Amino acid sequence: MLQFNAPITEIIRRRFSCRNYQHKPVSASKQAQLQAFIEALPPGPFGSRPRFDLLAATETDSKSLRGLGTYGFIKSPSAFILGAMSPSEYDLEDYGYLMEAIILYATSLDLGTCWLGGTFTKSRFAKKINLSNSETMPAVTSLGEYTATEQKRQGLVSRTAGAHLRLPWDELFFNFLFSTPLFQNEAAKYTTALEMVRAGPSASNKQPWRILRHNQIWRFYLRRTPGYRKDLIKRILDLCDLQRLDIGIAMCHFELTARENNLKGKWIVEDELAKHPNPLTEYIVSWEAQS
Ligand SMILES: Cc1cc2nc3c(=O)[nH]c(=O)nc-3n(C[C@H](O)[C@H](O)[C@H](O)COP(=O)(O)O)c2cc1C
Repeated sequence: MLQFNAPITEIIRRRFSCRNYQHKPVSASKQAQLQAFIEALPPGPFGSRPRFDLLAATETDSKSLRGLGTYGFIKSPSAFILGAMSPSEYDLEDYGYLMEAIILYATSLDLGTCWLGGTFTKSRFAKKINLSNSETMPAVTSLGEYTATEQKRQGLVSRTAGAHLRLPWDELFFNFLFSTPLFQNEAAKYTTALEMVRAGPSASNKQPWRILRHNQIWRFYLRRTPGYRKDLIKRILDLCDLQRLDIGIAMCHFELTARENNLKGKWIVEDELAKHPNPLTEYIVSWEAQS
């Protein structure tokens, strides 16, 4: 069970992609707390166990990000969270879920973070974590103390939960059919869990999560951005499907919020839905609420 030292909704509201950091190392005490959190991580919701490690950044690390498929300039990160995963059916969703849990924990320690998706498998980051031939590294996270400007931005983000940069509810959450939006009052006890999905990070802020409520079952779908995967593949060989990481992140926010609100449930894969893939709106997983 993941343990945080502040209410999860508060931590999720404080998180944003911080791309500028102070020129100073993360304190030994914060490093130790992060390491302890990483070591105590349970398996992902689908049962796979990616491994993660904290790496102190060197001067050249931000420059070496160029050419690895990441976007945005990351200025003076103090550290990185690296990860390695072995192939399995839901490896990317588990990786996204667990990396996001680490990010939320780092946020609770007042550290700025930014997800960086790219092709790290042959990079110097891969050497640092002794990546084996059968493992891949779909994304890393940069980390450090906020600069004063970033701290101000965080204030705005927490007040609005990033809502001004997100799709409206009626484009993300649905009742029985994708043609019927689910309104906030209809989501009842799950309103906050859905709001926390909406506040989550996603690659290029595409927000590909779609959730369809079917009585006590909440079905998570991936609405692929047309051309997104293809373009990237054209650009960089061997790039993973970043939008599957986004689903893992959404699952993390949803489950942690539900549990904090004493809403019981478990993840299930409904085979009938999984068997009939729709290329643009792909069923991934369901949360079965238990009363
Ligand atoms: C899987 C993934 C990959 C990402 N890759 C990058 C990246 O390479 N460079 C970057 O600057 N931001 C990256 N981001 C951050 C997103 O751009 C950011 O989450 C999104 O714009 C929403 O903004 P917010 O995180 O401030 O709420 C990534 C996010 C995710 C979830």
